[in-house]
Amino acid sequence: MRKITRLLKNVWIVTFIRRLYFASKYFNKKYFQILKWGFTSKEDTNFTYHLTQDNIQYLAHTISVVTKINYFEILEYIKEVQIDESLRDTILTAIENSNEKKFVDKDVRFGRRLGWYAFARAIKPKVIIETGVDKGLGAILLCAALLKNKEEGFEGRYYGTEINPKAGYLLTGKYKEVGKILYGDSIKSLSEFTDKIDLFINDSDHSSSYEYQEYMTIKSLLTDNTIILGDNSHCTNKLANFSQEINRKFIFFQEIPSNHWYPGAGIGISYTEI
Ligand SMILES: C[S@@+](CC[C@H](N)C(=O)[O-])C[C@H]1O[C@@H](n2cnc3c(N)ncnc32)[C@H](O)[C@@H]1O
Repeated sequence: MRKITRLLKNVWIVTFIRRLYFASKYFNKKYFQILKWGFTSKEDTNFTYHLTQDNIQYLAHTISVVTKINYFEILEYIKEVQIDESLRDTILTAIENSNEKKFVDKDVRFGRRLGWYAFARAIKPKVIIETGVDKGLGAILLCAALLKNKEEGFEGRYYGTEINPKAGYLLTGKYKEVGKILYGDSIKSLSEFTDKIDLFINDSDHSSSYEYQEYMTIKSLLTDNTIILGDNSHCTNKLANFSQEINRKFIFFQEIPSNHWYPGAGIGISYTEI
């Protein structure tokens, strides 16, 4: 038998097929996930999914390294939002009341935004800016973090920049009390902003030049404590470059969606080591 196997190994076409089969095993599951998603999901953009457990663990460690806050405390923040029934109900009600419900799944899946939440809980920001609001999933999540911070005595405000006047319908109820959407072009809104920014999330126009322009626009509003999160860092190195230019650290967290065809985006993290 061993002799036959050795002989077959020398036949080019057999080895070729075996090698292709081996490589394709990494992707074949994806086609089943695509088919399942085609039948079960209504989403056609800004896909949502849960993260794998291991990925959540890595996320908590990453945030712990950046913030120098204990890993278990960060993990608690993540768990806190995963079981937040009030937040979940508000989102599901807003979906039900929206005109877009035909294109939105009636489920709440935060993906890498869990990391945005944990940062917002960990650093207790006075000012959060998120550029690009879309439905408002990040917006309501970040406002939920600000409300929890407020219960602990740390007040903060959320500002979302968004060019689409119909965007942001998920930001409702008590969450809206700590958040505001600045409608119009992001660069314009950012250039009119004067407060120092504690947490900045880039997620608007995903062209690399626009992303970089956003960072340049807010440069004078950064402090040593500001954390910048880039939602484009799986596609461009603009946040890494910007960080190098102004002597900041940069790391990238790769998200791993659970049971979904999407390969995952990530979180670029720019910070100053004090
Ligand atoms: C990927 S989505 C944002 C997703 C959102 N952060 C979330 O957590 O789900 C990008 C959004 O940026 C908005 N956008 C695109 N170009 C923009 C610009 N120049 N100024 C402001 N918003 C812009 C789009 O309308 C879209 O809603």
